[in-house]
Amino acid sequence: MKKIKLISFLILIATSLLFVQCTTDPIPGPAGRDGADGADGEDGMDGASGLAECIACHNAETTENAHTSYLFSGHYNENMDHDVNGDGVNDPLSQYGNRGFGGLSCTSCHTSDGYIAWAEQGSAAGGSHPVYPGTQTITCTTCHSKHSSFDFENEGFDYALRRIDPVMLVADNSYTIDYGKDEMTSHTCATCHQPRSTFEGSLNDEGTYDVGGRFGPHYGAQSTLLEGIQGAELDGYTYRGKDATAAHRAGSSCTNCHMGEPTGDLLDNGLHSKNPTDTSCTVCHANGIPPRDFLKADFQALEDLLVAEGIITIDDEGDVSIVSGKYDLIPAAALWNYKMIYYDHSHGVHNPNYSKDLVQNSIDALNAN
Ligand code: HEC
Ligand code: HEC
Ligand code: HEC
Ligand code: HEC
Ligand code: HEC
Ligand code: HEC
Repeated sequence: MKKIKLISFLILIATSLLFVQCTTDPIPGPAGRDGADGADGEDGMDGASGLAECIACHNAETTENAHTSYLFSGHYNENMDHDVNGDGVNDPLSQYGNRGFGGLSCTSCHTSDGYIAWAEQGSAAGGSHPVYPGTQTITCTTCHSKHSSFDFENEGFDYALRRIDPVMLVADNSYTIDYGKDEMTSHTCATCHQPRSTFEGSLNDEGTYDVGGRFGPHYGAQSTLLEGIQGAELDGYTYRGKDATAAHRAGSSCTNCHMGEPTGDLLDNGLHSKNPTDTSCTVCHANGIPPRDFLKADFQALEDLLVAEGIITIDDEGDVSIVSGKYDLIPAAALWNYKMIYYDHSHGVHNPNYSKDLVQNSIDALNAN
C-alpha cells in the first residue's frame, strides 16, 4: 500500500514536471532607443532532470516484474528450514540461534530477521543471535531497506540494499571480496553465499586434518569459487583463475549473470528469479554458450578415487557420506575440493579454470600418493 502510494506520488511529480518550462526560451531584451527590440538574451541552462532518475526504478512495471520474477526464485520457493539431522524432517533454522562459528549463527543467513540483525550490527562477526520465530523465507525487505545515499553519480546505485559494502569473509577475516562500486549490488549475494570454514582451519596439532561429517565449505562456496580462493591448493601444482582474475569474476558479477534481462516473457530467468540468464553470457560468448557439463567426467573420476581411498562412501540411493577421521594432506585436500565444487552448485561454471585445476590436480595427487 505504502509502496503504491509512493510510486503514484513519484509519477505525479514527474508528470507535473512536464508542464514546467525550463528557462530555455529566449528572453526578449529591453526596447532600444529607436523603439526597436534589442538582441535576444542568451539561453539559460537546462533544468535538472527532476525525478527521471528515480522513475527508472520506481515505476509500476519494474516493481511488478520484480514481484513476478521473484516467485520463480529459490529464495521464495525454498524456505530456509533444512533437514539438519538427516531424519527426513526439516528443522526450523530460526531455532538455531547462538549456534555456529566465528561469531555468526545459522540464523544470520537462514532467517530474514537474523540477516537484518547482522546487517544492522554492521560487522562480519559479533553480536548476539537470538532464536527467531517460525519458518522464514528471503523476502523483499530481507535485502532491501532504504537508500543510503541519493548521490548516485558519485556513490553508485545502492538499490536501497542493506549490504553493499565489500564482504570481509567470515571464515577468513584477512580476505575481503570487493566487486567495486559499479558491481556493489553483488556484495549482497556474497554476504550469505560465502563459506563457513576454510581448509586450513581443519589442520590439527599433529599435522593431519580433522575431517568430520560436515567437512567442506558449506553451501556458500559460490563467492569463493568465483573469486578463485579457498580451494585446497597443493604445492607444485598450477592453479589458474585465482585471486579475482577469472574472466567470470573480472568481467561479470553475481547480479550480472543472475539478475540480468530475462529471455522470454515468463520472467523465470534473470531479474529476481535469480536464475542465470543466457543474455548475460552472450555478451562474451558471442558464438554460443559453451556446454556447462565440462567438469562432469573429471568430477566423477575424483569421486571414484575418494571412494577407493575410503574417505567417502556412497549408498544405494547415491547419497555421499564422509568417513570421519584424521587424514593426511592429500586425501583431505582432495575431499575439500570435491566438496567445494559440489556445494557451489554451478558445476564449475563460476570459475571453469580454477575448478578444472582443483579437480585435476586432486586426481593427480591422489594417483601419485
Ligand atoms: C554465511 C551464511 C550461512 C550460514 C552462517 C549458514 N548457512 Fe546454511 N546455507 C547457506 C546458503 C547460501 C545455502 C544455500 C546455497 C545453495 O542452495 O546453493 C545454505 C544451505 C544449507 C543447507 C542445505 C541445503 C540443501 O539444499 O540441502 C543446510 C542443511 C544448511 N544450510 C544448514 C545450516 C546450518 C545448520 C547452519 C548453522 C550451523 C548454517 N546452515 C549456517 C548459507 C549459510
Ligand atoms: C536476495 C536479495 C533480494 C531480494 C529478496 C529482493 N531483491 Fe530487489 N534487488 C536486489 C538486488 C541485488 C538488486 C539490484 C540488481 C542489479 O544490480 O541489477 C535489486 C533490484 C531491485 C529493483 C530495481 C529494478 C530491478 O529489477 O533491477 C526493484 C524495483 C526491486 N529490487 C524490488 C524488489 C521487490 C519488490 C522484491 C520482493 C518481491 C525484491 N526486490 C526482493 C536484491 C533483492
Ligand atoms: C537503481 C534503482 C533505483 C533508483 C535510481 C532509485 N531507487 Fe529508490 N528504491 C529502489 C529499490 C530497489 C528500493 C527498495 C524496494 C522497493 O521499495 O521497491 C527503493 C526504495 C525507495 C524508498 C523507500 C525506502 C526508503 O528509502 O525510505 C524511497 C522513499 C525511494 N526509494 C526513493 C527514491 C528516490 C526519491 C529516488 C530518486 C532520487 C530513488 N528512490 C531512486 C531502487 C531505486
Ligand atoms: C539472506 C541470505 C541470502 C542472500 C542475501 C542471498 N541469498 Fe541466495 N540463497 C540463500 C539461501 C539460504 C538459499 C537456499 C534456499 C534454501 O534452500 O534454503 C539461497 C538460494 C539461492 C539460489 C538458488 C539455489 C538453489 O539451490 O536453487 C540462487 C540462484 C541464489 N540464492 C542466488 C543469489 C543471488 C544472485 C543473490 C544476490 C542478489 C543472493 N542469492 C542473495 C541465502 C541468501
Ligand atoms: C558468469 C556468470 C555467473 C556469475 C558471475 C555467477 N553465477 Fe552463479 N551460476 C551461473 C550459472 C551458469 C549457474 C549454473 C546454473 C545451472 O546449473 O543451471 C550458476 C549457479 C549458481 C547457484 C546454484 C543454483 C542452483 O540451481 O543450484 C547459486 C546459488 C549461484 N550461482 C549464486 C551465485 C553467486 C552468489 C554469485 C556471485 C558470488 C554468482 N552466482 C556468480 C552463472 C554465474
Ligand atoms: C565477461 C565475459 C564472460 C561472460 C559474461 C561469461 N563468460 Fe563464460 N567464459 C568467459 C571466458 C573468457 C572463458 C574462458 C575461461 C576463462 O578465461 O575463465 C569462459 C568460460 C566458460 C565456460 C567453460 C568452457 C570450457 O569448456 O572451458 C563455460 C561453461 C562458460 N564460460 C559459461 C558461461 C555462462 C553460462 C555464462 C552466462 C551465465 C557466461 N559463461 C558468461 C567469458 C565470459
